[in-house]
This record gives sequence, C-alpha cells and structure tokens, in this order.
Amino acid sequence: MKTFLKILKWVGISLVSLVAVFAVVVSLRQNLTYEAPYPNITASKDSAIIAHGRNLALGPAHCASCHSTENADSLIALGQEVPLSGGYAFKIPPVATIYTPNITPDSIHGIGKRTDGEIARALRYGVRADGTAMFDFMPFHNVSDEDLTALVSYVRSLKPVNKPRKENEFEPMGRIVKAFLVEPVGPDEKIQKSVKIDSTAEYGRYLAHNVANCVGCHTRRGLAGGYTGELFAGGNNIGGLITPNITTDSSSRIYGWSEEAFIARLKGGKVIPQSEMPWNSFKRMNDTQLKAIYRYLQTVKPAKMPKEG
Ligand code: HEC
Ligand code: HEC
Repeated sequence: MKTFLKILKWVGISLVSLVAVFAVVVSLRQNLTYEAPYPNITASKDSAIIAHGRNLALGPAHCASCHSTENADSLIALGQEVPLSGGYAFKIPPVATIYTPNITPDSIHGIGKRTDGEIARALRYGVRADGTAMFDFMPFHNVSDEDLTALVSYVRSLKPVNKPRKENEFEPMGRIVKAFLVEPVGPDEKIQKSVKIDSTAEYGRYLAHNVANCVGCHTRRGLAGGYTGELFAGGNNIGGLITPNITTDSSSRIYGWSEEAFIARLKGGKVIPQSEMPWNSFKRMNDTQLKAIYRYLQTVKPAKMPKEG
C-alpha cells in the first residue's frame, strides 16, 4: 500500500511538473518572430494603378468584406470610399476571437507608419511588421508583383480613419494553437511579375486560387488548414453551412450551369442571409473576371464531395 501511494505521489508530481513545463513553453512561444523577405514593390500614386487596386480590393480580393463593418454597397452608390478601418470579429470557439485590423493610413491605429515592404510582406508571407505570424485568413500569398503593388497603392490612397484596433482574444486552447500551429504561410507558386487580364481559364485559375480564394472555402480542409479533399469538391463547414461542390462532376452544384447563368448567379449576390461567402464583394466582379473563373472551373477535375467526418 505504502509503495503504491509513493508511486501515486510521484506520478502526480511528474504530471503537475509536465503541465507546468508545457504552460511555460506555451507562454514562451506566444510572440515568436519570423524572418521573411520584404517584397520589392513600391506604392504608386498613378491613378490607373490605384484604380486597378480598388477593382481588386472591392471585388475579387474582397478586402472590404473582412476589413470593413460599413455597408459598402450604399457607400459606393453614394460615390464614397469604403473605410477599411477593421473591427470585424472572427469568432472561432474554443480558440480565439480574431479582429480585422484598421488598414487605412491612420498613423496611430492603421498602417500609416508601415513601409510598403511591411504591408506587402504581411500579404505575401503572413508576417506582421513586428515579425510575429498572423492567422492565415488572407489568400494572397501568390499574387503577382503588379497586383500587390496595386493593392498597397490603393490602401495607401484611402482616407485615414482614426479608429483603434481591437486586440485579438485567445482562450487557453487558442494560446496553444498560437504557440504551435500559427506560422507564416508564404507563396507556393512562382510569383509572376504581372498576369494577363483576360477571360481565359488561366486568369480564372489565378483569381480562384490566389485572389478570391474560391478554392480555400470550396475544398475540404483538415484541422491545421491543409487540403484533405479534392480541390473544389466542397464539403467545408463555413459558419454552419456546407460549401457546395463546384467541380465539373455531375453531382456539382454548378453542373449544367451556362456561363450566363453562372455570371448572373454571382452578380445576384447573397441569397442565404447567414452565408459567409463574400457575395457582396464578388457581385462587383466584372464580366471578364467572372467569365475567366467560370472557364477555369470548367477545366477542374470532376470529383464527389467528401463524406462527413
Ligand atoms: C477573409 C478575411 C480577410 C480578407 C479577405 C482580407 N483580410 Fe487582411 N486581415 C484579415 C485578418 C483576420 C487580419 C489579422 C490577422 C491576425 O491578426 O492574425 C488581417 C490583417 C491584414 C493586414 C496586416 C495589418 C497589420 O496590422 O499588420 C493587412 C495589411 C491586411 N490585412 C490587408 C488586407 C488587404 C489589402 C486585403 C485585400 C487585398 C485584405 N487584407 C483582405 C482578414 C482579411
Ligand atoms: C468564405 C468562404 C467562401 C468563399 C471564399 C467562396 N465561397 Fe462559394 N460558397 C460558400 C458557402 C458557405 C456557400 C453556401 C451558401 C451560399 O450559397 O451562399 C457557397 C456557395 C457557392 C455557390 C452556390 C450558390 C447557389 O446559389 O447555389 C457557388 C456557385 C459558389 N459558392 C461559387 C464560389 C466562387 C466562384 C468563389 C470564388 C470567386 C467562391 N464561391 C468563394 C463559401 C465561400
């Protein structure tokens, strides 16, 4: 009996120390910093470049859907700017609440004091100006130098908004995730200097993968974020809705849709109110962009939606 109690005591002490060591490691790993190159781009004041950035930001790149809490439609209708002043909350129980930052050029709360390289690095490599890693919400790791320049130029051209950013909030589980799983994500394709804008499947692929992130939501992913299903076969639970299959399979949601029907549906905007697909931004895509995406999806390998689980 005595020896049993002794063993129990030592097991207890070891467990407590293990937990304590783990807690220390987790807290030491909260603000790890990473090295990542600064993309060699410079923001421009050229109105055509800013207009291209705006077209991407308010359309396929859907910056406003995440970085604004205002009604972009009414502002655009009034000829006003959409303030990308952040504050939208992504609630990910039991991990964290992540708030989008203010990305207007305000020098205290926004990106006013960041260099072009720092902003571009955040987008391409997921590394903040202070070297810490961001949660991988943004899909722009492979955008071309020209598009990255246009996006940074557009953001720089916005009116500064004096709105404090909300700090991200982490549950204990979130601190563990942050310590071990949140790492910078960089490009996984060769970065192009510029991409040709036309209605070909090639440009559609670029938009669907590297700008609009159709692939990221319409492909089943594992807990760590990597793809576990066939590309575009759907089956992801996004905010309680399962993303449909948009491959060329006969079970696909868009099977048999004509190009006109697809364009009309995307321009039609949100039908299911709680849907997290950024319909409000996507409905601003132009016919060239939508045709290109449709034509690309017509080349995607047919696949069935993965089974539950
Ligand atoms: C799907 C949502 C989403 C979209 C779309 C999105 N962002 Fe973000 N962005 C975020 C989140 C969330 C963060 C903060 C992540 C974190 O704190 O870990 C962020 C961070 C940033 C940062 C870093 C700011 C800082 O303080 O270092 C910049 C710059 C940025 N976004 C610019 C953009 C631009 C430009 C676009 C459009 C081209 C865009 N974002 C589109 C969600 C999004
Ligand atoms: C943030 C996640 C997300 C992104 C990004 C996204 N989708 Fe979706 N999509 C959804 C969800 C969730 C649904 C189901 C709810 C709905 O229909 O709105 C959906 C539905 C659809 C539908 C079916 C609509 C219908 O009425 O039957 C089509 C088509 C579609 N998406 C195409 C696309 C294309 C093309 C892109 C890229 C330009 C894209 N999606 C990007 C999440 C996303």
